[in-house]
Amino acid sequence: MNTVTKNSNRELSGKSHQETQAMESLLAIHQNLLSELGTNWSSHSLVTMTRQSLSRILYYADLYQKLLNVPGVICEFGVQWGATLSQLISLRGIHEPYNYSRVIYGFDTFEGFSQVDDVRDGVHLEAGDYSTELGYEKKLDKILTLQESLSPLSHMRKFELIKGDAAATIQPWLERNPHAIIAMAIFDMDIYKPTKAVLEAILPRLTKGSILVFDELNHPGFPGETAAVMEVLGLNNIRLQRSVFQPTCAWAVFE
Ligand SMILES: C[S@@+](CC[C@H](N)C(=O)[O-])C[C@H]1O[C@@H](n2cnc3c(N)ncnc32)[C@H](O)[C@@H]1O
Repeated sequence: MNTVTKNSNRELSGKSHQETQAMESLLAIHQNLLSELGTNWSSHSLVTMTRQSLSRILYYADLYQKLLNVPGVICEFGVQWGATLSQLISLRGIHEPYNYSRVIYGFDTFEGFSQVDDVRDGVHLEAGDYSTELGYEKKLDKILTLQESLSPLSHMRKFELIKGDAAATIQPWLERNPHAIIAMAIFDMDIYKPTKAVLEAILPRLTKGSILVFDELNHPGFPGETAAVMEVLGLNNIRLQRSVFQPTCAWAVFE
């Protein structure tokens, strides 16, 4: 594996020098092109989409279909810029446009990692890594409202952002939503303490068939996520599955 380094956005990266250069060139071309693409800018923008981003879309497109017969909401823990949340809203519009009960919740500090564990989270991570711009949650709320407006039943708001440390916000969320069954829980906070706390808190709201998605299992840069899963669920008790689309993601059906 390539050496893990931290990029200028304080995110871990395993990219080679050549890959980093190709990405920078594509970004420069994309920024120049954007004003030329006209009203179909979204479709034409795919010209600079990378294989890695396409893989991620394919991954969630695949996972979303496994969810269709499970009742309940989707919770993503660790939203950052909202790339996955936005895709999930579009996937809902494609696969179950009239299922207004499939509300999508996104939990994030929007200030990056809040509580890195010196022992369990390894040597690469620090508080504040993976932060977004100040007040980004308001911009993301607008983006997601617009995305929702491009699918049926857009007069019904079917997403919510919950700002703060998910280890602290999950209990009040459960109390505010006593009806909520969690059909899919996506863990992408990368670190030990909130992953463990949230997993423990949501267990009573899972049903057999709920899908648990872990973004950084078996990842040497983020050992805390594996530790949390081991301590709460036990690796022997779940059948983790991997996808051809993502090297360090794993998912399991809760049984
Ligand atoms: C890798 S990013 C998430 C990427 C996102 N899921 C996507 O697909 O684009 C990790 C996110 O977890 C968030 N995070 C880390 N610790 C958190 C905590 N205790 N509570 C809420 N969010 C947290 C960070 O702020 C960061 O935005």
